[in-house]
Order: sequence, then structure tokens, then C-alpha cells
Amino acid sequence: MPGRVEGKVAFITGAGRGQGRSHALRLAQEGADIIAIDICHDVEGALPMATAEDLAETAKMVEALDRRIVIHQADVRDLDALKAAVDDGVAQLGRLDIVLASAGVASMGGRADKMKVDHWTHTIDINLTGVWNSTRVAIPHLIAGGRGGAIVLTSSVGGERAMPYMSHYISAKHGVIGLMRSLAVELGSHNIRVNSVLPTNVNTPMFMNEGLFKAWRPDLEQPTVDDIKPIAQMMHVLPIGWIEPEDVSNAILFLVSDESRYITGIELPVDAGTLLK
Ligand SMILES: NC(=O)c1ccc[n+]([C@@H]2O[C@H](COP(=O)([O-])OP(=O)(O)OC[C@H]3O[C@@H](n4cnc5c(N)ncnc54)[C@H](O)[C@@H]3O)[C@@H](O)[C@H]2O)c1
Repeated sequence: MPGRVEGKVAFITGAGRGQGRSHALRLAQEGADIIAIDICHDVEGALPMATAEDLAETAKMVEALDRRIVIHQADVRDLDALKAAVDDGVAQLGRLDIVLASAGVASMGGRADKMKVDHWTHTIDINLTGVWNSTRVAIPHLIAGGRGGAIVLTSSVGGERAMPYMSHYISAKHGVIGLMRSLAVELGSHNIRVNSVLPTNVNTPMFMNEGLFKAWRPDLEQPTVDDIKPIAQMMHVLPIGWIEPEDVSNAILFLVSDESRYITGIELPVDAGTLLK
């Protein structure tokens, strides 16, 4: 039986680890070839990023599924580097059908009136302008292909709801939904669908890190994952504290497959019910 995205090519940002890697593997399992980029070096004021070795490991894992992959180190803030990566990927793999903008950073930035300008700026630059850039370099290829396409922009439950001390992140993720809706309206006549996923806490380094544990349990000297579990669980309707990257990948797979061929402009929460609370 053919895969659900058999023969298609997907461009994925932030594919060195976490959700981006998981999306690459899930789509490859269903028959897609992959163009993968990641920054592969650290950004001031953010958690450690994926490394070149991480991105190379993603490539190995995709190839082990008998699919092709083209990898490039590129920062989503660098339009020229992104364009070079996508153009090279399309030249090698022959087409482009799917775009997944997953790259992002998260941090606690303090109360909005006290947040450092740099902190605000780099978060907006990566999490909003970087998403715009990722679509800008890909849309001409989707249109030129003449076969339509599917774009999924990764927002967050923070795209619909506020959380304290994260106004930079929350503003960017709300902005991603505005961008998604705008693109859906502008690209519909080309049969290009544009949607967003809104994950809750995901079991990746962005969530599973000491800084977050300490922010959630300031009463403890060395909080561990077990210390934050009950708080994380209270956020949700379903009895879990976080989801796995594969849960987001499966939602994305639906949104980029023909099973959702008339779905465009939606926000799909993958949130264990947190937006109901
Ligand atoms: N983990 C969560 O709890 C959670 C919840 C909701 C939404 N999200 C969103 O999901 C997306 C994926 O995050 P994740 O959970 O996989 O985290 P992650 O930190 O594991 O992965 C993020 C990836 O993006 C890459 N990246 C960061 N800045 C980049 C840049 N400027 N250019 C290119 N690559 C860059 C990193 O190197 C890393 O590989 C992000 O947009 C994030 O905001 C995450």
C-alpha cells in the first residue's frame, strides 16, 4: 500500500532534533523525501540548539527508512541561506509539496515591561519572521510545481492563550496564526493549504530542561521531572503532563495528506484538552 505522502517532498525547519526530526521520520515512513535545515549552533539567550551531529543523525534515520534527504545548516533568520537550502533540495529531489515550519526557541523573558530588547527581538525574529522566511523561500516552488501543496506552521497553545513572563513567545505564536490565516487566503487559489498545529508541552529539550523545571518549582533547589509532573498534568483534561513529538507529527501527517484536502486555515490543538480549561 502506498504511503500517505508517497512520492512527495517536504521541507522541514528545526529538523536537527525534537519535533522537526520526528516530523521528518514520520513523513519519510509514509513515503516522502525530506529537505531538512537546522541552525546547528547556539543562540544568545536561548537554550542550547541542535548540533551538526544531530542534523546528520536525522539524515541517517531518514535514509534508514529508504527515503532521500538533503540537509543544510541554516538559520531561519537568514533568508539567503534558507533560499539556497531549499533551492538545492528541490534541485536534488525534483519537487516540493510540503512545508513544515517547526524551528523555534522558547525562554522565560520576565515581565513584559522589563524584558530585554534583545530577548524580545531574537524570539520574534526566529519564531515569527523566521516562519515567514521559511514560507517565502518555499512558496515559489509550490506554485511552480502546479500540484498544490500543504504548509503547516507550528504555533503553540500559547498562540491562543497567554502565559506569564513569555510575552515575546506568546506574541510570536499568536502572530504565526495570523500569518497562517493570511497565507491560507492568499494561496488557496493555487490549491495550497495552510494550517497550524498548537501543541501543549512536548517531550523535547525545549520543555524538558532544568531552567523550566526551576521556573515551575522555584521552591526546590534541584527540581526534577517528577517534581513538575503533577503541575504539568493539572494543565490538561487528559491525565498526562506532556505529549510526545510523534503526537504532533501524526496531526501534521493528517494535515499534509490528501485526507485533509479541503481543510485550510485551521488551528489544530494537540493539547490534551488544555485549551478547554
Ligand atoms: N516543546 C514544547 O513544549 C512546545 C510546545 C508548544 C510549541 N512548541 C513549538 O514547537 C516547535 C519545535 O520545538 P521542539 O519542541 O522540537 O523544541 P527543540 O528545542 O527540541 O527543537 C527546536 C529546533 O529548532 C532549531 N532552531 C532554533 N532556532 C533556529 C533557527 N534560528 N534557525 C534554524 N533552526 C533553529 C533548534 O536547533 C532545534 O533543533 C517550536 O516552534 C516550539 O516553539 C514546542
